[in-house]
Amino acid sequence: METNASEPKLPLADIQGLILRGYNMATVRHFILRIDNADGAKRFIGNLVSGDGETSPQITTAAWWDKKPNYCLNIGFTYNGLEALKLQGDFSLRSDHFEPFKQGAAARGAKIGDEGESAPEHWQGKLGTDEVHILLSVYAQDSNVLESISGSLRSLFRQGEAIHELSHFDGAQLPDNRVHFGYRDGIAQPTIEGVPTVRQLPDKQKVAPAYYFVLIEDDDSSYEVPTPDRLWMNGSFVAFRVLEQDVAGFENLLQQQADKISPEMLAAKMCGRWRNGVPLALSPDTDTKLPEEQLNNFDYSDDRKGVKCPVGSHIRRTNPRNSDQIQGLVETRRIVRRGMPYGPPYDPHSPDDGIKRGLLGMFICTRLDLQFEFIMEEWVNKSEFSGFLSNNSKDPLLGNNSPESSEFDMPDEKTTLKISEFQRFIKTRGGAYCFLPSITGLKYIANN
Ligand code: HEM
Repeated sequence: METNASEPKLPLADIQGLILRGYNMATVRHFILRIDNADGAKRFIGNLVSGDGETSPQITTAAWWDKKPNYCLNIGFTYNGLEALKLQGDFSLRSDHFEPFKQGAAARGAKIGDEGESAPEHWQGKLGTDEVHILLSVYAQDSNVLESISGSLRSLFRQGEAIHELSHFDGAQLPDNRVHFGYRDGIAQPTIEGVPTVRQLPDKQKVAPAYYFVLIEDDDSSYEVPTPDRLWMNGSFVAFRVLEQDVAGFENLLQQQADKISPEMLAAKMCGRWRNGVPLALSPDTDTKLPEEQLNNFDYSDDRKGVKCPVGSHIRRTNPRNSDQIQGLVETRRIVRRGMPYGPPYDPHSPDDGIKRGLLGMFICTRLDLQFEFIMEEWVNKSEFSGFLSNNSKDPLLGNNSPESSEFDMPDEKTTLKISEFQRFIKTRGGAYCFLPSITGLKYIANN
């Protein structure tokens, strides 16, 4: 085990595991829950932190483990959820820095492109309604474990009719860490100060201060931790997103443009990585495999115009690294990503199978406005941040594109290859902004 700073600053056993480590489990179930009885819900939460882990499932922390557990469990609360708990004693967000959390994902939807078919009124499983109070996520090594833990949790929900299951969303890994569209995912993550790393790939970026991902007092942070301390300190926020992917539409686009650019090259340009994960910044012409430790070890300093990796590609927009044309401090926008695909692998022989597939994404940060929402609003869905982008251009994979206005530029030394008139490939089917309390915070909730 290595640490990124000489002294770990974070109390790992107090912080929910999901924030600081990827679990790399085979399956996930996200329960969307409503609190019907505050006292019963507090007992339920107390059980999740003080039970024995055998008869009653336990919240997973970021503490080091020698043996990987069979399952991991994490819990988040919407603002409505915190209110439904009827805590004794006031809690205060103290400033408008946490306004997105208070307003909730549905109210913020239009800002980040959740419009038209993706608008909150069409969201699934009651997401976007005031009834959503708790997001309870179970990650499991296999589906038997998932069902067994789900069974235990469901009997706990029923005790005292405290908790009502509104819906659940299931995901499962695809082979080789691929996501639908065929790309390998889970390569780039911020290296966080004071956190032990196992598998973090080397990169050329600054180590990110812990306060971007865990609520702690720090003179340099852009916020004050809300009160009371015991509830908020060492917690974090997550944007949970149900993102449906139009794989047939995406593959059609690649084929339609085949007279201009090879399908694999276009797929790579849209993402910034070849489908096997090799970054264009290091290998602009071929997807020949690179050693694993090279996969994230790049920046864009020798590629200002985006000849190797387009400035408008998904990974260069969502983390422009050191692209010098980007205004503002890129490193303050970083986020932790935990995602799992849902739906079976796409079969090119039956493109119109009618089966829904996509990604269940968790985007973790302390300032939803400055981190998650900023990325979506300014970098994914706008172009003003860079002088090298066409006016209307948006992220070709993730942006809320429409055929009337979509554009994607792929410059080379002399000219620019442009594609246009493509549709939106990733639609929002649900979202929730949740607070992920520390273990101390969960005990505070249970006892107040
Ligand atoms: C279905 C939805 C999505 C798909 C299929 C997708 C796909 C990918 C892929 C294939 C990568 C490259 C693998 C890697 O670098 O680890 C990536 C990276 C990334 N994505 Fe997405 N993504 C999705 C949604 C989002 C959303 C909603 C955000 C919003 C914040 C986002 C932010 C990022 C970031 C920050 C990176 C890392 C960039 C870097 O550090 O180089 N993605 N995504």
